[in-house]
Amino acid sequence: MQSVKIGILGLGTVGSGTVNVLTRNSREISRRAGRDIEIYRAADRDLDKPKSCDTSNINLTDDAFEVINDPEIQIVVELIGGTGIAKDLVTQAIENGKHVVTANKALIAMHGNELFALAQEKGVTIAFEAAVAGGIPIIKAMREGLAGNRIEWLAGIINGTGNFILTEMREKGRDFADVLAEAQALGYAEADPTFDIEGIDAAHKLTIMASIAFGIPLQYYKCYTEGISKISQEDVQYAAELGYRIKHLGIAKKMDSGVELRVHPTLIPERRLIANVNGVMNAVVVKGDAVGPTLYYGAGAGSDATASAVVADIVDIVRALTTDPENRVPHLAFQPDALKDTPILPMNEVVTSYYLRIHTLDVPGVLADITRILSDEGINIEAILQKEDHGGLVPIIMLTQAVVEKNMDRAIEQIEALDTVPDAIMRIRMESLGG
Ligand code: HSE
Repeated sequence: MQSVKIGILGLGTVGSGTVNVLTRNSREISRRAGRDIEIYRAADRDLDKPKSCDTSNINLTDDAFEVINDPEIQIVVELIGGTGIAKDLVTQAIENGKHVVTANKALIAMHGNELFALAQEKGVTIAFEAAVAGGIPIIKAMREGLAGNRIEWLAGIINGTGNFILTEMREKGRDFADVLAEAQALGYAEADPTFDIEGIDAAHKLTIMASIAFGIPLQYYKCYTEGISKISQEDVQYAAELGYRIKHLGIAKKMDSGVELRVHPTLIPERRLIANVNGVMNAVVVKGDAVGPTLYYGAGAGSDATASAVVADIVDIVRALTTDPENRVPHLAFQPDALKDTPILPMNEVVTSYYLRIHTLDVPGVLADITRILSDEGINIEAILQKEDHGGLVPIIMLTQAVVEKNMDRAIEQIEALDTVPDAIMRIRMESLGG
């Protein structure tokens, strides 16, 4: 049987990994797919730049449009990233009747609704396993493996760079900027590393997972996003003393009134498996009503690891080339006409417990003022820790019981207005992530 010809757009970290994995494992892959897969063409904007893969047998171009317009190519693999030229290329490839495999989380989270509609109209598939949690097959697991469940919530460490930074800070007391530079050198970080640190990358991935979990359209702009740049050594250590770890989590929960969709630093009990996911590794816990909690763990970034997901998508598409488009697995797990308009809840309606770190002056009555304000807002204190005086300021650490966020906002505003509280309060939401 004739080989299936693919065209790769972008030979950077993931593009090179994809060439390497397809080449190295070609026989195994053909045995699985039922056809040989041929890298027929590849495009990269800078052909003079040395590549981390062997391109000697590939017809290269610096014009990606040549690839998507080549009639021989059946599958376009978009590994450029971003929502600029990548969006034009993917749209045109679909218009040309080609299947698309992409690792582009921003593209799917922000433009997936329209791209999936176009793909459906043209009878082609957009596969995006590599867009979420690198090499972990979380899309396939949720879309197919958990298809019998009502998914109740999911929570994930879905940015390797952020997890690497938090891990190094906790284990080695290293400096934030220094660890970030290392993540960039290792090829984990986004082109703009604020995407990693400020939670934008995680919000893209969470948006995609939430849609697949709950059967709702992609709504990236409604995702609450808070980064890790304000996390200090002090908080990492206090959390540890109290039996917790700080992780940058993406959390999606189905509540009676809507869906919670939020990315923020989170205190989680150190005994949870996911609390022990360190370095660049990713992990996602998905709680289904039938199966209970399930955990998916693996490399969330890196060349070969992400290529593993890209190649799996290529194999899936090759296997289904002759399948009637109506009988393929729907992009967002639910049939397109069965997606629901469930609202995304505003953050001030979300209910969680909190870690608060308050720097106060060392004078009588401060604690009484703080606890009175918390009590007036109906906030119950679960634990309290007072540390030694640091240059005239006393750190007070409190864990609270669950409270609606707007009450906590009001309490923090009032406490910060006290003359005895000179610094901004550090607040970190907590999750038990129990079954
Ligand atoms: N910058 C991302 C991360 C790469 O660090 O997880 C994978 O999406």
